[in-house]
Amino acid sequence: MQGKFITFEGIEGSGKSTQIQLLTKYLEEKGIAHIRTREPGGTPIAEAIRQILLNPAHKEMLPETELLLYCASRAQHTGELIIPALKAGKIVISDRYFDSSYAYQGAARKLDLNIIDILTDFATFHTNPDLTVLLDLPVEIGMKRINSRNLDRMEQEKLSFHYKVREQFLFIAKKAPSRYLVIDATQPPDEIHKEILRKLNF
Ligand code: TYD
Repeated sequence: MQGKFITFEGIEGSGKSTQIQLLTKYLEEKGIAHIRTREPGGTPIAEAIRQILLNPAHKEMLPETELLLYCASRAQHTGELIIPALKAGKIVISDRYFDSSYAYQGAARKLDLNIIDILTDFATFHTNPDLTVLLDLPVEIGMKRINSRNLDRMEQEKLSFHYKVREQFLFIAKKAPSRYLVIDATQPPDEIHKEILRKLNF
């Protein structure tokens, strides 16, 4: 049996972690086999790449290097963890996947989208999410929510960068409405959780 692949996307502070936690708790209670994972990361090698990517000291990192490292992390994560879990019939819930590369490295860093297409196919072994939950909210609200913590290299980018990220997520969602569930993330967490469950119909 093939499992189901669900990804969560959104700008910084959109509440992905809270929703993923609520969803995994629900699956646990129902006894539904699942794994919870994240990008960049998810396996020891991919988590090591995450450290390089998010380290605020790495100010010299070129956009090209950044894209390749996100894709390197994705290849390892997909091949080692996601594909075997799906083959075992599990629900895979990932905090971010390839849409983040289109939003952050494509729209915000202005890298060529055709190159991202090719690298994405290569790094995912053509593994696409069955459903992507986009938690959408204004950048100012997201930034306010994360401002109390130590910001990583990406979070330290200026507001205009995050505007482009949000815009691109909404654009991708519009282009692929059957894969996307766009949710107003200014709603209370419980309401958002219910909306996700209605869509998933578990
Ligand atoms: P994030 O998911 O926000 O984790 P946390 O909740 O721990 O802060 O951090 C991952 C960062 O990496 C986030 O700023 C988005 C960025 N990112 C990309 O730029 N491209 C990608 O392809 C992925 C997966 C993430």
